[in-house]
Amino acid sequence: MHKILFLGPQGSGKGTQANRLAEKLEIPALSMGQLLRDEKAAGSELGKTIAEIIDAGNLVPDEITTSVLKKRLAQPDIENGFIIDSFPRYMEQYENSKDFFQPTAVIVLDIPQDESMERLVKRAEIEGRADDTPEKIEHRLNLYKQETEPVIQQYKELGVAHVIDGRGTIEEVEARINEALGI
Ligand code: AP5
Ligand code: MG
Repeated sequence: MHKILFLGPQGSGKGTQANRLAEKLEIPALSMGQLLRDEKAAGSELGKTIAEIIDAGNLVPDEITTSVLKKRLAQPDIENGFIIDSFPRYMEQYENSKDFFQPTAVIVLDIPQDESMERLVKRAEIEGRADDTPEKIEHRLNLYKQETEPVIQQYKELGVAHVIDGRGTIEEVEARINEALGI
């Protein structure tokens, strides 16, 4: 059963590629960021707390992400496998996730910082995400380096990580991912 995790810097194409792969494998793609934005949109007390954190480009505490994610993982459509974009994303979360989530493969999309910035500034014009200002993108990229790269190191040591060049067209990156997964 596929349990494929996507990690990579902001704008590297995690959401884009997770959705394409999900369609190909006919399994759902879950996005931790989207689950949190949905909770924000619901306007609950928890949603308001989440909004303050994600709109500033900070990482949400593990108690919150884990409860939001476990609720989603309890739904029946994940029984035949799933893809998850961006969980776990810092070491405490990684340690706590081991009990309920061990990915079969980790796709790490790699792009340079200036390309992250370029893609997200462009996306901001279309989608208007609150965390897509140049200052917040830079802050998120710094958090990625400090907090998420150590998690990637763990998956490399476990032998499940595939580092993929995220540059080029969406189709080119997709082909590299499929090749790495042997599908
Ligand atoms: P999240 O939603 O995961 O955002 P992110 O990591 O900042 O990543 P993005 O969504 O910006 O980029 P992406 O890699 O998905 O790229 P995309 O496919 O969109 O997280 C948001 C927030 O939620 C976090 O900051 C944090 O607050 C919180 N959060 C999430 N997970 C958490 C966790 N585990 N713990 C705690 N907090 C958490 O592509 C980007 C753009 O580029 C798009 O416009 C796309 O069309 C375009 N594009 C894609 N591929 C290409 C290509 N090959 N060429 C040109 N353009 C391309
Ligand atoms: Mg995304």
